[in-house]
Amino acid sequence: MTGISIRSANIDDAQKIADFHVRVWRHTYQDLAPAEAFAVLNEKYRGEKWKEKLSSNDASQIVLIAEIGRRMVGIGAAGGPSESIFGDRGEIKFLYVDPDFKRRGIGRQLLARLASHLREMNYQGAALSVVKGNDLAIAFYEALNGRQAGEYIDPGPVWRSKNVVFAWDDVASLVP
Ligand SMILES: CC(C)(COP(=O)(O)OP(=O)(O)OC[C@H]1O[C@@H](n2cnc3c(N)ncnc32)[C@H](O)[C@@H]1OP(=O)(O)O)[C@@H](O)C(=O)NCCC(=O)NCCS
Repeated sequence: MTGISIRSANIDDAQKIADFHVRVWRHTYQDLAPAEAFAVLNEKYRGEKWKEKLSSNDASQIVLIAEIGRRMVGIGAAGGPSESIFGDRGEIKFLYVDPDFKRRGIGRQLLARLASHLREMNYQGAALSVVKGNDLAIAFYEALNGRQAGEYIDPGPVWRSKNVVFAWDDVASLVP
């Protein structure tokens, strides 16, 4: 699709990313997440987390924003593995596309850029976790040749969700 640009985020984007994250997260998990998670994972909570992430000096971390004009239509983040189940692969930590802009290649493009960054950081593979029951995301990762590589329960504390792990042993396979 034409008109999409992808750029690195900076600290000034933190709250806008958080607001977008909350909106798409609620849309995605309305039938899956417990009410407590909906209450706790609000704009303020996410805002603090994104400010923290975007203030970090950790060069392995990347946060990307996809835009059409000045409208945010997607976000993605990647970095070093946060759970032992990811092994020594780089981790795709967040990937969210505006529901009004799905199936236009934005997710694929963001994932390619995140994978390219992980490759530059010398990770051979990539992995991520997706909540069991998030069937659309699972279909997306399967379409991009992700391999199911196990399951784990999120340590919480907000939502101890059951997750499926997807892995790509060659991160370069995600980079066109
Ligand atoms: C999952 C998500 C990132 C996909 O982004 P997207 O921009 O809609 O996906 P793309 O247009 O890049 O799709 C690439 C390919 O994946 C497959 N795919 C994507 N969405 C699919 C769906 N709902 N059903 C089946 N296949 C799908 C298709 O093969 C598609 O190619 P095609 O459109 O040429 O057939 C997006 O739907 C999203 O943000 N969902 C909500 C948040 C979420 O669940 N994030 C993941 C958390 S782990």
